[in-house]
This record gives sequence, C-alpha cells and structure tokens, in this order.
Amino acid sequence: MGLEIRDLVGPEREDAIPAILDSFVGIYRWHAKRTLRRVASVRGALEGGQIRGISMLEDLVPGVGYVYYVAVRAADRRRGVGGALLDDALDRFRRARTEIVYAAAEEDNIASRRLFETRGFRVVRRDEPPWREGGLGAWGLRSKMMVVSGEVLMGLRLNPPGTSITLVPARAGGT
Ligand SMILES: CC(C)(COP(=O)(O)OP(=O)(O)OC[C@H]1O[C@@H](n2cnc3c(N)ncnc32)[C@H](O)[C@@H]1OP(=O)(O)O)[C@@H](O)C(=O)NCCC(=O)NCCS
Repeated sequence: MGLEIRDLVGPEREDAIPAILDSFVGIYRWHAKRTLRRVASVRGALEGGQIRGISMLEDLVPGVGYVYYVAVRAADRRRGVGGALLDDALDRFRRARTEIVYAAAEEDNIASRRLFETRGFRVVRRDEPPWREGGLGAWGLRSKMMVVSGEVLMGLRLNPPGTSITLVPARAGGT
C-alpha cells in the first residue's frame, strides 16, 4: 500500500467530504463537516492521488490531544488506512510531548473501538483520577469534546504527567 499521509489545508479539505459521507449520518455527518472546516489539523491518507481516509486532530489544552474523527472511504476499509492515520496522529502528538490523547467512540461502533484499542487506548471511567494526577480521567475537558449519550470516552497516556511543555493552571471541578 503506497499511502502518503499529509496535512490537508484550505480548500483541499473539501476533498475529504466523500470520506465523511461514507462514514457518518445525521448529526455526526453535520458535525464532522463543520469540524473539517474548523479543526486545527486535518490529515489525509492519499493513494494514487485519491483521499482514502482522514483524521481530525486538535489540542484541547496544552498536553491533551483529541482525535475528533478518523474516517476511511467505505471501499478502502480493513486495508490498514485507519490504523496508519491513527499511528500518524499519535506520532505527531508524541513529538509535541502530549501527555494524554482522547477520542470518543459510539458504544456499539466495534470498528472504531477496536481500532483505538489496537493502539493501546482504553475506556476512561467517569470516576478516574484526572490526567494531571496520573490517571486518564478527562477532568474538566468534557465540554470541549463531543462525548454524548451512547458514547464512551477512550484515552491513551503517551507521556508521564507534567512532561508537556506548558501545563494549564489547576481548575476546580472533577471529571
Ligand atoms: C473505524 C474505521 C476508521 C477503521 O478504518 P480501517 O481503515 O478499516 O481500519 P484498519 O484497516 O486500519 O483496521 C485497524 C484495526 O481496527 C480493527 N477494525 C477495523 N475495522 C473493524 C471492524 N469492522 N470490525 C472489527 N475490528 C475492526 C481491527 O483490529 C483492525 O486490525 P486488523 O485488520 O489487523 O484486524 C472505519 O471503519 C471507518 O471509517 N468507519 C466509519 C467512521 C467511524 O466510525 N470512525 C471512527 C469514529 S470517529
């Protein structure tokens, strides 16, 4: 597989719409399109000049990354494209000294949950200690993520607590 993974910038991001249409319906489709145009980073997996899949990535706060979406064209699934996009995302977060990466997955979306699990993500419980205390708890960040009813929050620790370049000040409130 001759995949090239690179940033999609400006109008190029519109070329990712078919991957979104293949992957989401209803409110998720609406939100994915909106996020495509606003999110800090869209990575495209290209083969033969065609976009086979995309990821949308952002820092929620310094040290905490979020994978908004990974979406692969229906015809290109189970060929390693989603895995390559997630590896690319984690590589970028690791190089930025990100401590924790989160992603939300629909409870019954086996493909999505397995994909994240293959890269070491696990379900984060609501009562876990906050990420700054060494747990994976999402702390006060839920409002910045789109975790809705019927979804689970998944997380992966990449670096020990306190190793990101800038730490946000402590805030009141639990997970
Ligand atoms: C989830 C998704 C991105 C996976 O992309 P993909 O290119 O098919 O994934 P890969 O081929 O790299 O698979 C990596 C691993 O994920 C798991 N996986 C992927 N699809 C799976 C499925 N349908 N059933 C079970 N496990 C699956 C497997 O462990 C797989 O490894 P394997 O093929 O060696 O068994 C793709 O199914 C998709 O676009 N779905 C719709 C959008 C979506 O739900 N995105 C995730 C939430 S944002």
